Amino acid sequence: MEEKYQHLEGSGGMAQALEKEKSRRKRSIWIVVASVVGILVLVAVAVIAWYFSTHKNNGSNGSGGNPGKSGDSTGNNTPNDGSDPSIFELDSRLHKSFYGMAYTPEGSQLPNCGNSLENVIKDIQILSQLTTRVRLYGADCNQSALVLEAIKQTKVDMQVFLGNYPIPDDNTPYERQRDIIKEALQTYGADHVAGVTVGNEFMLNYLTGQGVQDPNGIIGQQGAAILKANIEDTRQMIDGLQLSKHIPVGNSDAGSFFSNSVLTDVEYGMSNVHAWFANTTAEGAAPWVFQFFDENNVQPAALLPNKPKMYIAETGWPTKSSDAGNANNGGSDASVPNLQVFIDNFVCQANSNNVGYFFFEYFDEQWKDAMFGGVEGWWGLFNADRTLKDITIPDCPAP
Ligand SMILES: *[C@@H]1O[C@H](CO)[C@@H](O)[C@H](O)[C@H]1NC(C)=O
Ligand SMILES: *[C@@H]1O[C@H](CO)[C@@H](O)[C@H](O)[C@H]1NC(C)=O
Ligand SMILES: *[C@@H]1O[C@H](CO)[C@@H](O)[C@H](O)[C@H]1NC(C)=O
Repeated sequence: MEEKYQHLEGSGGMAQALEKEKSRRKRSIWIVVASVVGILVLVAVAVIAWYFSTHKNNGSNGSGGNPGKSGDSTGNNTPNDGSDPSIFELDSRLHKSFYGMAYTPEGSQLPNCGNSLENVIKDIQILSQLTTRVRLYGADCNQSALVLEAIKQTKVDMQVFLGNYPIPDDNTPYERQRDIIKEALQTYGADHVAGVTVGNEFMLNYLTGQGVQDPNGIIGQQGAAILKANIEDTRQMIDGLQLSKHIPVGNSDAGSFFSNSVLTDVEYGMSNVHAWFANTTAEGAAPWVFQFFDENNVQPAALLPNKPKMYIAETGWPTKSSDAGNANNGGSDASVPNLQVFIDNFVCQANSNNVGYFFFEYFDEQWKDAMFGGVEGWWGLFNADRTLKDITIPDCPAP
């Protein structure tokens, strides 16, 4: 540039040189302006590219998934190569329409545990697109810690009701699970824990084991005393941890087997309400569930001094039976279309009526089929391999 100017000056008059100088300056200004604009455009493109690469699952779909994570704990951005559990593809067929979901991680039965964090992470990624709450039944095989670890790594919006599954004649399983739950609470804190449920169908098993029915009779009182001691012990364990938030202690049982004495000791009750076993039709199932739950659980609980909050712990419809004899309950078949009928009649109505429920269940459980046969292993929305059954998930956001 400088050299060219020298040359121009030497070959023309002063006025001409000034003109050249003006136009040169103009050109220089435009070059500077163009360069600045160019740099700004490049910066903007880079920022937009960065935004989309790091907010991959956080778009306008709003149905769950990555809650806005933009890098790992070291501040580096992480590609969606499966190494970061908080970055995962959303399934457009799923909607957060379920108040809660019943869930047992695959391989969580003693003595052959076999569950894995990898599988639980997969489940929590899927479950987080359906609900913000899961309930566990027991604590064996480290399932409490696995689920809390999976929630931590996926960073999803999820609360878990931990479970302790005691049995009538031996307090060892209760104590073992209490200690596992304690360790999980110490490790993960209370942020994602909505409650600890002590007992699952304990009274049902205790009473039927002795050939009686009445949870408030003499034998019922004996069973209740065992459960109440465990509930009190769990509450003391939780109090001793001085966690950042209060964790309620509850109890879960079959809908007709709640002991008033037990309910008086808990903050919530979870009731299994199964139209299938009441032999309703698929069409009649949802109205039956609402009525049964209200009459047998909600209204009686409201009369107790502590007014425990009542949830439906399990409700659903099986999609097949492993034997022909159980393929129909007298009202309707166990089938995928009938599961759809039940979902369509139950889910959105429960949501708008503020019925808290845990849909039964997330996926088919092969161990249950092997152990019990019939319809027991076939209640999943998903098959055992985590593929969605041929159903349509309703789109009505759960409360
Ligand atoms: C929302 O989900 C649909 C279906 O999966 C997908 O095609 C679309 O790109 C998604 N939009 C955003 C903004 O993520
Ligand atoms: C499971 O339990 C053990 C010991 O009880 C613990 O050290 C481990 O980290 C737990 N959590 C997971 C997610 O495996
Ligand atoms: C439902 O039908 C089965 C088979 O007929 C029967 O054993 C069972 O008692 C019935 N249950 C109810 C609640 O009516």
